[in-house]
Amino acid sequence: MNTRRIRQFVPAFEVTEGAGVTVHRSIGTPALRNLDPFLMLDHFGSDNPDEYIAGFPEHPHRGFITFTYMLDGHMEHRDSMGNRGDLKPGGVQWMKAASGVIHSEMPQQTNGLMRGFQLWINLPASEKMSAPAYQEFSAVSIPEVALDQGRVRVLAGRFGDTHGVIDDPATDVLYLDISLDAQAGFALPLSETHNAFVYVFEGGAHLAGAELKQHTLAVLGAGEGVEIMAGDAGARFILVAGRPIGEPVVQYGPFVMNTREEIEQAIADYRDGRLVQVRAEMTGH
Ligand code: FE2
Repeated sequence: MNTRRIRQFVPAFEVTEGAGVTVHRSIGTPALRNLDPFLMLDHFGSDNPDEYIAGFPEHPHRGFITFTYMLDGHMEHRDSMGNRGDLKPGGVQWMKAASGVIHSEMPQQTNGLMRGFQLWINLPASEKMSAPAYQEFSAVSIPEVALDQGRVRVLAGRFGDTHGVIDDPATDVLYLDISLDAQAGFALPLSETHNAFVYVFEGGAHLAGAELKQHTLAVLGAGEGVEIMAGDAGARFILVAGRPIGEPVVQYGPFVMNTREEIEQAIADYRDGRLVQVRAEMTGH
């Protein structure tokens, strides 16, 4: 197998988001504006309520998908159309904002650890103004595959014969949460057409001779697959891949479209109360 090497390291840095929440951003920074089809990756992880309690009060999205994976803690999602979602440890939510969603994402805890990821996945022009949709699944419904020395949670895409719970038709996203024991190896073929990255959040690992450090996103180069070796303390990381869209990206905060005119339209629609056009369907359990 012609394995992928690391094309770029992107250290996550602290950003204050929402009403005052500390997140660690890697994709969506000056070092890596985007990694088609991925627009942003935020990792949140804190046991200090001051860093998360303010949450993300009502805010809009248009033109893309937010993919939230909770590791620890409890967050409630509510939107302007009356949908309500509960994200608990190990749960996942795929929200296709598309033509427009206004929602809030608020912590349902006043102490303890809050930890997880939010990934923004772009939509092709043909989908940007389509109807919003949700897929939300709790931890028990997410398939977990045991390895000789570790385990894989399959959130989206396919791992061997196991299909993840989230269906992402536009960009065919693969999203795995992988835990490896000390010095255990992991190998997986990856579609050559897809962009891919690895983000280690516990322990450490090596990939093609390079060290993967915590809170540093590793963008993978071209190749047919990936091989990762855990360090002496084991490793836990997400491995994410997606088919690039190859269209112009014009972003203004929570609006991501193809042209400036479409961004101006989104701003005007939001101002005039026309951002939300269609009620979203919710699937999952
Ligand atoms: Fe949001």
